[in-house]
Amino acid sequence: MSEILTIAMPKGRIFEEAVDLLRKAGYLLPPEFDESRKLIIEIEEEGLRFILAKPTDVPTYVEHGVADIGIAGKDVMLEEERDVYELLDLQISGCYLAVAGLPNTKMNDVAPKIATKYPNVAAAYFREQGEQVEIIKLNGSIELAPIIGLADRIVDIVSTGRTLVENGLVEYERIVDVTSRLIVNPVSYRIKDKMINDLVARLSKVVSVEVN
Ligand code: PRP
Repeated sequence: MSEILTIAMPKGRIFEEAVDLLRKAGYLLPPEFDESRKLIIEIEEEGLRFILAKPTDVPTYVEHGVADIGIAGKDVMLEEERDVYELLDLQISGCYLAVAGLPNTKMNDVAPKIATKYPNVAAAYFREQGEQVEIIKLNGSIELAPIIGLADRIVDIVSTGRTLVENGLVEYERIVDVTSRLIVNPVSYRIKDKMINDLVARLSKVVSVEVN
């Protein structure tokens, strides 16, 4: 029986770009792939099984080995610190993490509040800056926090910058650039090295063409 490679794919924003990249790398993914609500999709001819996960959960599936490889944003990788290898920068879904807030405002002198989906990244960043802050974990619509007085600043993803502008917020500091990465479970990488290296080689070619 031929081997199957299980890939954890992030649902949402990254999904479309990731599928596009796989197609450019020569994988035949049927059109239904894009519309389906199925959470597990097997493409027998390619020896691939896709599991469609919430982006923040992709490294968890890969770390536990239920997916051999996965596609995850660098933001998620920095936040989760999972025991997986990063094989390739796919150079898709480019954005960055930044500190933002209301314009012309100072942070509270004592334990300013920082709202974020990325408590670990935010805590590490302010620790490095030598600032003591209180982190408030939110799960979405982070930009609300400074507007309604929940926090002095936010740490969040900026992509086009529209969400900040439309909510009257400004960027204060840029923390780190973010793109999507191909990640692998260390044991899978030993056992399925041929399949995985083949996929990496095919994707690398497409990525370097797209970038140059
Ligand atoms: C992300 C991020 C920002 C927004 C940035 O949120 O948290 O809110 O996108 O994009 P922009 O710079 O192009 O405006 P997402 O849409 O993932 O929703 P969320 O509110 O659930 O975090």
